[in-house]
Amino acid sequence: MLHIQENISLKPYNSFSIDVKADYFAEIFSEADLKALFENELSKLQKLLIIGGGSNVLFTQDYLGLVIKISIKGIESKADGDNIFVTAGAGEVWNDFVNYCIEKNFAGVENLSLIPGTVGASPIQNIGAYGVELKDVFESCTAFEIKTGEIKTFNFSDCHFGYRESIFKAELKGQFIITSVTFRLSAQPKINTSYGAIKVELQKRAIENPTIADVSSAVSHIRVSKLPDPSTIGNAGSFFKNPVIEKYEFADVVARHPDVVHYPTPDNKIKLAAGWLIEQCGWRGKVVGQTGTWKNQALVLVNHGNATGSEVYNFSEQIIDSVKSTFGVTLEREVNIL
Ligand code: FAD
Ligand code: EPU
Repeated sequence: MLHIQENISLKPYNSFSIDVKADYFAEIFSEADLKALFENELSKLQKLLIIGGGSNVLFTQDYLGLVIKISIKGIESKADGDNIFVTAGAGEVWNDFVNYCIEKNFAGVENLSLIPGTVGASPIQNIGAYGVELKDVFESCTAFEIKTGEIKTFNFSDCHFGYRESIFKAELKGQFIITSVTFRLSAQPKINTSYGAIKVELQKRAIENPTIADVSSAVSHIRVSKLPDPSTIGNAGSFFKNPVIEKYEFADVVARHPDVVHYPTPDNKIKLAAGWLIEQCGWRGKVVGQTGTWKNQALVLVNHGNATGSEVYNFSEQIIDSVKSTFGVTLEREVNIL
């Protein structure tokens, strides 16, 4: 039964633990709930915000509108030769879904272990970690169109995936609610240990022929050592994207900073490690009021207890200014600012 709550705290619903209120809040467990919600006059009058786990948002003020939390569950799989097509409800917790795949020996998402949030948000910024992005295993998704109330299917080429980008963050922002995602996984694992830290961790464990469970365990171990756990210290993972710059711009940066951490991209550009840039500006582990950067990862901004969203946002402005004046590079926020 659809239940719309009024004037509720969003603190339990965002991993930054920012204490703001929403005028209205509804949790959605099925497509039928979504239809019912959009038949309700209230939804037509309100500004809308869709959330899953709230682990990539920063609330800088109360939300004057209706927050819709997607909790549609269910996982189904279908084998077709070596391909396994797995469809998961948008509200499945991402890491529960990853663990389900590992238990069944469905390969492809093990490098994405322990990313917070939901399955439905995974295509929004094309989540990525440790050498794999969502786009590498994405088959299709279904989404509810807010304007028409119809469910539409988006195939890979419809989604325009890029580094932390998709059509859902760009042209179609705010227009569709993802209800399920179908992944193309494999019964024949292609183990990906291209990310140096995974190799090192497997070597430490003396594992020569890793299984997908070994890769998942190594990735989880690395993540826990670097990233703060949102259940104890509020954060939304990397606050900024790693900047991607042209080669001629890079030539200028590297001439002045020969040890700058960088990687080539497939489209012949250069990606810089934002965490390194921020650390070089002296920000790693800095505490400023109730906010700051994480001691083991300067790219992660944290809430030390009672930070407001504006405090975190203003701090992020200071970091942007400082990186710009030191390196001439402009950082772009990865987290969705509200
Ligand atoms: P939310 O924060 O609830 O929403 C994020 C955006 O997606 C919002 O714009 C929202 O409106 C939209 N949205 C959410 N659900 C839907 C839906 N069903 N339909 C339409 N729009 C929707 N990200 C990475 O890519 N790689 C990482 O390695 C990584 N590590 C992290 C580590 C930590 C400790 C934390 C806290 C975050 C990390 N993140 C990482 C960011 C975050 O986990 C991902 O962005 C994740 O996909 C967010 O899922 P969510 O359900 O919490 O989305
Ligand atoms: N570095 C520093 N100082 C720091 C942080 C990093 O010098 O404080 C250096 C590291 O030594 C390393 C390089 O920067 O040489 C890259 O660091 P790391 O491997 O930790 O990865 P990242 O580029 O900082 C990205 C993603 C993460 C993802 C990891 C692993 C972005 C914006 N972030 O971080 O995603 O988990 O790679 O693949 O692309 C997220 O999106 O929220 C997120 C956590």
